[in-house]
Amino acid sequence: MDRAGVPAPALRRGAARVLADNWTGASTVPSRTLYPHQWSWDSAFVAIGLRHLRADRAQRELESLLAAQWADGRIPHIVFNPAVPEDAYFPSPDFWRSSRAGRPAGAPAAPETSGIVQPPVHALAAWLVHVADPAESHRRGFLAHAYPRLTAWHDYLLTRRDLGGGGLAAVVHPWEPGTDNSPCWDRALARVEPAPPGTFRRADLAHGHPHDRPTDLDYGRYVRLAADYREAGYDDRAARPAFAVEDPCFNALLAVGEHALAAMARALGRADAPHTARAAALTRNLVARLWDAGAGLFRVRDLGTDTLVDERAVTGLVPLLVPDLPADVTGALRRTLTGPGFAAPATRLVPSYDLTGPAFDPQRYWRGPAWFNTAWLIHRGLRTHGLDADAARLRRGFLTEAGRSRFAEYVDPVTGAARGARHFSWTAALTLDLLSTSPR
Ligand code: SER
Repeated sequence: MDRAGVPAPALRRGAARVLADNWTGASTVPSRTLYPHQWSWDSAFVAIGLRHLRADRAQRELESLLAAQWADGRIPHIVFNPAVPEDAYFPSPDFWRSSRAGRPAGAPAAPETSGIVQPPVHALAAWLVHVADPAESHRRGFLAHAYPRLTAWHDYLLTRRDLGGGGLAAVVHPWEPGTDNSPCWDRALARVEPAPPGTFRRADLAHGHPHDRPTDLDYGRYVRLAADYREAGYDDRAARPAFAVEDPCFNALLAVGEHALAAMARALGRADAPHTARAAALTRNLVARLWDAGAGLFRVRDLGTDTLVDERAVTGLVPLLVPDLPADVTGALRRTLTGPGFAAPATRLVPSYDLTGPAFDPQRYWRGPAWFNTAWLIHRGLRTHGLDADAARLRRGFLTEAGRSRFAEYVDPVTGAARGARHFSWTAALTLDLLSTSPR
């Protein structure tokens, strides 16, 4: 029996309203309260939805992010809006000090940004934005502008961030894979000395319920890691990060992004050059370094010990997005998705962490709640592999829960109760995208 959702026309209007309310003139804030600046992977997901409403705006969303790119190729995870008060978000520009501390690594003089990165969804987003309205894209020179910048971004990840030497990009802060307090990071984070509680002031608890957010102890470690990276000038050759891991979602997006760059190069009439070969190498390395056949999903590799982390998270299912996976891997991922760890029959969404795992918490950020961006990625992966019935079920769950929760940031995977921010941009944007694609 289906849970009642919001009818499609009202859902579409509601989603468009969220994006209109959260548009600042050049980009979209994820949430007016909790995240009042521009976030990197949020903007990519927002552009994917915005393209159905306003192709020019979707292009500007990505262009404003690329305008903050560092000379070393990195796309920062936050681009700060100077009109927003310093204390509206922590860590603020005066913590990151990008224009001074990041100058040698190539940070721009303006705008102020963070110094870390987020998952590389941008090439996929840029390609989807282009194909939504190729005429507008040509008119504005969107692809010719974005392609070299996105290539430089991937170059940065594939060279400076190959800390494990195995042909995958490493992340050096739990904010980088975007899944801040996933149990996958607990073991590596336990080696990090937290910054003392009195030395920083969280802004998130003014807007988010403490049970929905990471703990103070997690924040102490986040602050320590970010401050240490800053003190090393955000220089990946000099920094000796206490936390360095290879994340399957991050690297799957990089592989899919290389396929998108190949398509862009062809559309621009350039030789596809390295992209198809780089996508193939990333796919091979992903399977060789992170696949765990016994667990039926991809794991995180902790570079501190060079071992796989014994936790099962949704990020280990996202590589379903990669088109040329071995058939046994695809089959096992599907079984894991429909098995007791990740099937949530009431909502039909995918929990961020194994429902039967020891650290499962249905409420606390990335330790159990179901998120809409990972559902969208898995939906796309299921379609990529022709698993259309599974994709259709997930699509129904997504649209139902997005509407019922008023475009929540995340929901309890078992009950569908809304958690985190409401009126959340990527939930709305990806709702629009699913409403605009046929269920098949
Ligand atoms: N997700 C982090 C936060 O909650 C930062 O990217 O603020």
